[in-house]
Amino acid sequence: MKIMEDLTIGILGAGKIGSAIVRAIRLKYPSIHVIATARKDETLRNVKDLEVETTKDNNYAVNKSDVIILSVKPQHFPTVLRQVGIESWRDKVVISIMAGVKLSTLSTLLNNAEVYRAMPNINAIVYKSTTTIAENNGKSRELVENIFKTLGNVYWLPEEYLDIWTALVGSGPAFISEIIDALSLGAVACGMQREIAYNAVLDMISGTIIMLKEGKIDHPMLLRDQVTTPVGTTIRGLMVMEAKSVKSALIETIEASYKRAVEIGNEIDKSIRNNSK
Ligand SMILES: NC(=O)c1ccc[n+]([C@@H]2O[C@H](COP(=O)([O-])OP(=O)(O)OC[C@H]3O[C@@H](n4cnc5c(N)ncnc54)[C@H](OP(=O)(O)O)[C@@H]3O)[C@@H](O)[C@H]2O)c1
Repeated sequence: MKIMEDLTIGILGAGKIGSAIVRAIRLKYPSIHVIATARKDETLRNVKDLEVETTKDNNYAVNKSDVIILSVKPQHFPTVLRQVGIESWRDKVVISIMAGVKLSTLSTLLNNAEVYRAMPNINAIVYKSTTTIAENNGKSRELVENIFKTLGNVYWLPEEYLDIWTALVGSGPAFISEIIDALSLGAVACGMQREIAYNAVLDMISGTIIMLKEGKIDHPMLLRDQVTTPVGTTIRGLMVMEAKSVKSALIETIEASYKRAVEIGNEIDKSIRNNSK
């Protein structure tokens, strides 16, 4: 395998997360040649100014690239497979970031490539992704890690955690955004302007994260107890959270999202098996 700076990386599906990956790679490794693909001209136009080669031809992109990142939606993966000749994948490093799609599926389909499975999140846009890569003894481990380090933090985990990661960390920014909005609206309900409330919530959450990470607080409930004075304001709020089952709703949110990731993986397996009959 070539050194990082000399690589050609193909991003199949330069949408929201794919274009964030393109941008991060261009920033950290300007000499890497990047080929981005999509179906629409408009999508390709959005990445063109990042000095990347753009094409709608996935087979061309795979043939020209050393490393290929699969960032289409899982349901579009069978189409990509039909568009790319099986021989084109030979000896390539292929990294899938598609939710749910298992390494075993990828290895069966692309058995002449070195396959990896990773799960970044949308915070990659500001280089703050929390990415996991499924453990893998492939020879390009370091290279794959370096690619995802351009997006933020990287953790290697056994593949059995990937669907849980998808729910917690992949979908997580959406769940947290809902909570931020709800808290802001709470302040609006009490008479504060939305913008003031929203900025206050963001600042308060940033500070709370620093407290938990740097304040030597081993469990969030210890911080909760520090804030909760007898007959005070916090306990009144906590009683409502308890009555409305906020905590169990959040636990079930992650569980439901995880189950959907597993379901997507099974659907893709099934669809690919049916297509190959
Ligand atoms: N969004 C996230 O936060 C996130 C986080 C981690 C992982 N992921 C995974 O990343 C993948 C993409 O998610 P996304 O949110 O970035 O979706 P998205 O914005 O819809 O991007 C997907 C892109 O794939 C392109 N595409 C579809 N079929 C194609 C084909 N046959 N050839 C080439 N390009 C094709 C689409 O092109 P057109 O625009 O031209 O139709 C679209 O731009 C999904 O598998 C998802 O599970 C997403």
